[in-house]
Amino acid sequence: MAIEVIPTGAALGAEVRGLDLSKPLTDAEFEAVQQAWYDHIVLLFRGQKIDDDDLVRFSARFGELDIAPASATDMAGGQALSRPEIWIISNVVENGRPIGALGDKEAEWHTDMSYVAEPPMASVLYSLEIPDRGGDTSFANMYKALEELPADLRAAVEGRICNHDASMTSVGELRAGAEAVVDVRTAPGAKHPVIRTHPATGGKSLYLGRRLNAYLEGYSVEESERLLDRLWAHCAKPEFSWTHKWQVGDLLIWDNRCAIHRRDGFDGSQRRVMHRTQIKGRAPR
Ligand code: SIN
Repeated sequence: MAIEVIPTGAALGAEVRGLDLSKPLTDAEFEAVQQAWYDHIVLLFRGQKIDDDDLVRFSARFGELDIAPASATDMAGGQALSRPEIWIISNVVENGRPIGALGDKEAEWHTDMSYVAEPPMASVLYSLEIPDRGGDTSFANMYKALEELPADLRAAVEGRICNHDASMTSVGELRAGAEAVVDVRTAPGAKHPVIRTHPATGGKSLYLGRRLNAYLEGYSVEESERLLDRLWAHCAKPEFSWTHKWQVGDLLIWDNRCAIHRRDGFDGSQRRVMHRTQIKGRAPR
């Protein structure tokens, strides 16, 4: 069956049909998928019946994978993770311990792990169990957000560096071992250019991480807050985004270099279990 790429019609995202990810991709199939991914930033594969080995094999076509941190392994509810590259995103509690990260709360707009020096270039998320409603994941196109940035705001952030705070999670919780930030200028994290160039497509995009405790270097705290509020309000405009409503067996891959994402909260009495991989990236430039 030929591969079909069906754009969502929104600012980003496309569904890829005609591939069974439980089987290795041929080189020609991978090249078609990779090109579609560069073109659409987020790809959806529906109806996949894959195990963790398949998820790791598919993800590893794009590059070397991150190993889940000890905190993720500790969270496996006392179960051994089937592979060290698998991260569990879930609200399920077993044996008194969460089996995964992020729980059931809303996750605010963010880029995965932008608070490290070399953030993952991509994330892959596969759904095993989903709630009846809620838990939708939205993505926003940061090439377009930059293209349509008001000129004065672009001039204010061109060539600037932002500090990406490492202390808080995207669901607004303090990370284990982190201290609450009292001055954003000294928040722990990583410094990256506000505007970056995608190493594969050559496109320029905004690279913002997350709003909380961010700081634009070279400005007063007040001016940095004002500019960041404007930047985030701009990026969150509906015309830059697309929302995915999950079905069991959906697999999404997204490009952290040119997209941000957020997740709706959901009813915590329902189970949501997703397996995720992360593909290593280089320092943004
Ligand atoms: C994430 O924010 O990285 C997870 C997205 C999701 O749970 O849908």
